[in-house]
Amino acid sequence: MTATAASTVRRIKLRSQGLEVSAQGLGCMGMSPFSGPPKSDPDMIALIRHAVGSGVTFLDTSNIYGFNADEILLGKALKGGGVRQKVELATKFGLGFADGKWDVRGDPAYVRAACEGSLKRLDIDCIDLYYQHRIDTRVPIEVTIGELKKLVEEGKIKYIGLSEASASAIRRAHAVHPITAVQLEWSLWSRDVEAEIIPTCRELGIGIVAYSPLGRGFFSVGSKLLENLSKDDFRQILPRFQPENLAHNEKLFDQVNEIAQRKGCTPSQLALAWVHHQGDDVCPIPGTTKIENFNQNIGALSVKLTPEEMAELELIASADSVKGGRYQSGFSTWENSDTPPLSSWKAS
Ligand code: ATR
Repeated sequence: MTATAASTVRRIKLRSQGLEVSAQGLGCMGMSPFSGPPKSDPDMIALIRHAVGSGVTFLDTSNIYGFNADEILLGKALKGGGVRQKVELATKFGLGFADGKWDVRGDPAYVRAACEGSLKRLDIDCIDLYYQHRIDTRVPIEVTIGELKKLVEEGKIKYIGLSEASASAIRRAHAVHPITAVQLEWSLWSRDVEAEIIPTCRELGIGIVAYSPLGRGFFSVGSKLLENLSKDDFRQILPRFQPENLAHNEKLFDQVNEIAQRKGCTPSQLALAWVHHQGDDVCPIPGTTKIENFNQNIGALSVKLTPEEMAELELIASADSVKGGRYQSGFSTWENSDTPPLSSWKAS
């Protein structure tokens, strides 16, 4: 069963800095060759334009998605038809991959060059929301945000965001220039951000953008998801998708699925509705490469959960309901995002 698409997608304000976005965004990571089977550019452009036409105008990409290809794709999708003017476009800098290794950069020269590169690929004059994708723990966060502040003053970016930042990193960044949004993984199986990071965002008036709200697709079909993943799909190496953890995690999916059936919606819609019910300062950005899945996802906006149903879901999605970390060990996350003091920085 599926809840039907909401007739209009409501708009929300990402708190105090005034950026208004559609209440659900569109994660574009999977649209370009990053992992999994190649997608056709015309199909992805049609999907992006369909989303914008449906009222989902908050589009999320990064320079790392498809190693620049995703931004080029978005640039093409925004061309003509007044599409650019309707969209709130978010991209990110700071996460790189070279010589078989992940690298994180937040030094001023890199930040500036990354921004120029994104503007060129997206073929626009100004990025609406520019996130530091991962925090460079060698560079005081004040230095990175200081460069972003200059980019705001120069009109190259409108708003500043952080992704995978600890509460203390958020506070330090916000003291240099107001942070508009923090992007974090938040879903029925990723709730570690609720202890400190979300209260900090709320205290400081920062909007919350929830990525992977479908548990990277797990809440659509549970462990069956693995059956259709290509060998190079990055989920193949994520701890939660390893066989030793999946059998345990499947119980969580089964319980969510049972409630979804009772409510007459799909488990994906229920997982998304749970995020929507966290408040109007929260915007989930489910990723999809298919128009039918996109349509299903906006249907989540019309799924209403009672306080009893929220409590039931929260009981199911408790800390011990999931086995395996969000990422492979050593990968950059909010847990290792604290940076040296500003006094230690020597500009080269
Ligand atoms: P992320 O954005 O990090 O990829 P996510 O938003 O939690 O994580 O989940 C995205 C995954 O869920 C994608 O694999 C997407 O697959 P498609 O591109 O095939 O759609 C899948 N997904 C999204 N919406 C879905 C839906 N309604 N039903 C089934 N799968 C869905």
